[in-house]
Amino acid sequence: MRRVLALSCGVPALTLLIQMGAWPIAAQDDVDRGKRTFSEAGCVMCHGPSARGGDGPSLVPMARDFPDFIRVVREGIGEMPGQAEEEVTDEQIERVYEFIVRLSQPSGER
Ligand code: HEC
Repeated sequence: MRRVLALSCGVPALTLLIQMGAWPIAAQDDVDRGKRTFSEAGCVMCHGPSARGGDGPSLVPMARDFPDFIRVVREGIGEMPGQAEEEVTDEQIERVYEFIVRLSQPSGER
């Protein structure tokens, strides 16, 4: 039921992503969990509480697709150290991505 509600809110922007084949619809619960993980996994220390930048760059809007995103998180990039599976799981990275993608949409103020 909650999934259905979440769907009806973000339809226009999500429809575009889906048409692009970029990412299946993320339920609001997943986005919320992504936000928590973003904090718990320490991303927030460098990228800021709403991923819009701190010591590290803003991640919004996110131009990378998920395979590219997870590769960057695992391998690291520039001054960002790679994050091992013990620190953050693939599933958690997926949720973080959904959180950031949601922020990247015009209505994504959260
Ligand atoms: C120690 C600070 C630090 C932490 C912790 C950190 N990052 Fe970064 N991150 C950076 C910096 C600095 C860059 C820019 C690297 C460069 O391009 O030289 C970056 C770049 C990135 C990029 C690439 C941005 C782009 O599109 O070019 C992504 C994606 C990213 N970080 C995601 C994450 C995620 C997700 C986490 C948490 C699991 C995280 N980062 C944790 C410092 C950090």
